[in-house]
Amino acid sequence: KRTEIRALFASAPADGASVTVCGWAKTVRDSKNIGFIELSDGSCFKPLQVVFEAAKLENYKDIAKAGVGTSLVVTGRVVLTPGAKQPLEVNADSIRVLGACPPEYPLQKKRHTVEFLRTMPHLRPRTNTFSAAFRVRSVAAYGIHKFLQENGFVYVHTPLITGSDCEGAGEMFRVTTLDAAQPPRTEEGAVDFSQDFFGRATNLTVSGQLEGEAMATAFGKIYTFGPTFRAENSNTPRHAAEFWMIEPEIAFADLADEMDLSEAMVKSVIAYVLETCPDEMAFFNQFFDKTLLERLNALINSDFARVSYTEAVEILSKHNDSFQYKVEWGTDLQTEHERFLTEQIYKKPVFVTDYPKAIKSFYMRVNGDGKTVAAADMLVPGVGELCGGSQREERLDVLTARMDELGLSRADYEWYLELRRFGTVEHAGFGLGFERLIMYLTGIPNIRDVLPFPRTAGGF
Ligand code: 4AD
Ligand code: MG
Repeated sequence: KRTEIRALFASAPADGASVTVCGWAKTVRDSKNIGFIELSDGSCFKPLQVVFEAAKLENYKDIAKAGVGTSLVVTGRVVLTPGAKQPLEVNADSIRVLGACPPEYPLQKKRHTVEFLRTMPHLRPRTNTFSAAFRVRSVAAYGIHKFLQENGFVYVHTPLITGSDCEGAGEMFRVTTLDAAQPPRTEEGAVDFSQDFFGRATNLTVSGQLEGEAMATAFGKIYTFGPTFRAENSNTPRHAAEFWMIEPEIAFADLADEMDLSEAMVKSVIAYVLETCPDEMAFFNQFFDKTLLERLNALINSDFARVSYTEAVEILSKHNDSFQYKVEWGTDLQTEHERFLTEQIYKKPVFVTDYPKAIKSFYMRVNGDGKTVAAADMLVPGVGELCGGSQREERLDVLTARMDELGLSRADYEWYLELRRFGTVEHAGFGLGFERLIMYLTGIPNIRDVLPFPRTAGGF
């Protein structure tokens, strides 16, 4: 019966216990009579050392020649090695090759660049960097569900195919079954989407927020956690065309409640990953960012900074010489400004609040000054914007006036307006970009390396 390597390490077996493990060889070294295999079965980050001896194995020479990547079944005895790097190793009584791996296998024992590894997304999860990144991803996802579920949030599934553009940025992928070369046309010559699959124009969702609001005004506290699509043609290290977003939405809550929630959630998931993935996190600390563990540990015990957009612009405009884009009141903050604030000024996560309404979405609650909205972006060192949130406009008359001002069709948003017409309440929420959280947690600087199969502008 096979034992997982993770279970073997965790179970503290007796010296001499007999065991069968399966895995892939990460390295094979040998001298004349004794050889060593680092074996990984993917169940944990640490490989198992297998010792094999010519005196015991008939196929010693074949095993000694086995290439990196060969899959093996090993039966042997546990040898406790207190004081060594690993607590135990296995001395093999027999080793059987399941699948050979020839020398053209690209993942030979040497340091490969992430750019090279990006060309083989089907193989790179076998490397240390990607195995650690994708396990952290899995654990962080669970940590988020755990935090929200334990706090009484209902997980809701919002549609991926929608008819509305939540962010109003027009960065949507169209979903259609019409013939792209010869679509039906209206008399005016426009594409006639009434003949399309759904009888209307549809696209992949850019955010589950609007549907999330509908669920929050029934359950009080909800969250979405799902894929999100944006046809932003930006080739940057932090934009993907398909990414995952967590969107909590809370009723009877204002912007301060929203910031408290997102801060608590981010701290909780960081603490959970530090606790659950010590080996992976130690690896990132060693190879990606030597201050990672120190920074993350400090962060979970300190308060995030909070500054208004207007104050932030005052601070940033003093440094306009060092920016490619100059800052003045009314302009949107670019990544360079966001990173300057969080990395140079505050040196920790910071919420920037109360942005000019002209640069934010239609659903954000207009402040008393009539010029700004109750929005809060959470910026973090190394990444920039991690969360975008706001208090929502719950006043029907203000919301419809704002939509008219922006030229949004009331008919398209009729159901959304009904949430205000029927028992409206103050409510607020945010969206956390899951890949950006993983970048922040691991120190991996490119979004292409925290998504198992990244889809970014320009191809994959
Ligand atoms: O700031 P955004 O656009 O906010 C919304 O979509 C709101 N509807 C969320 C809400 O209030 N429920 O996006 C939220 C977050 C960003 O802060 C960023 O972390 C991430 O989603 N994000 C992206 N991540 C990767 N690739 C992209 N192209 C992203 N666009 C946004
Ligand atoms: Mg945003």
